[in-house]
Amino acid sequence: MRKQAPARKRPRSGAGKPPAMDQALETTLTLNGAPVTRRIPARQHLIDFLREEMGLTGSHVGCEHGVCGTCTVRVDGRIVRGCLMLAVQADGRRVDTIEGLSDSGELAELQDAFLRRNALQCGFCTPGMLLAAQDLVVNDPGASREGIREHLSGNYCRCTGYQAIVDAVEDVLVARRKNT
Ligand code: FES
Ligand code: FES
Repeated sequence: MRKQAPARKRPRSGAGKPPAMDQALETTLTLNGAPVTRRIPARQHLIDFLREEMGLTGSHVGCEHGVCGTCTVRVDGRIVRGCLMLAVQADGRRVDTIEGLSDSGELAELQDAFLRRNALQCGFCTPGMLLAAQDLVVNDPGASREGIREHLSGNYCRCTGYQAIVDAVEDVLVARRKNT
């Protein structure tokens, strides 16, 4: 006799449903080292939350489609597109922005090199570019010039033609290699 599958429990009314898009969810994250708890609309993107709710306007909004990289922030140590991640997805995570990483001094070498090499003009792309470059410095310190270009290929700059940006990042990698 065929064994009957156990009857599935009927979900309680509303249970198991994803939150309505206009619902706000309590969200706790560590933002630039400090705990933050807010009720955040389920559909708000991380970059909009950071800029509009938290006043952290260093990261910018460009394409809003994950293409230009100007919204780059760091979540649990990895760079992400703030326009592609919902703010509520940051619950329980650590989020670092250009403000926090500048204040901590983590980006100082790259910032100096960008200035020295004239690697910024309008500066709109620069925060995202710095976060992407720092990700390379930390995770691939032996990167070649070609590797630098590849790593930064997801960050668009309309002004500098990339040459100066690649020069600046290369300066930091070479200086670090000399000192190790
Ligand atoms: S605004 Fe996020 S990648 Fe362009
Ligand atoms: S410096 Fe203007 S877009 Fe890069």
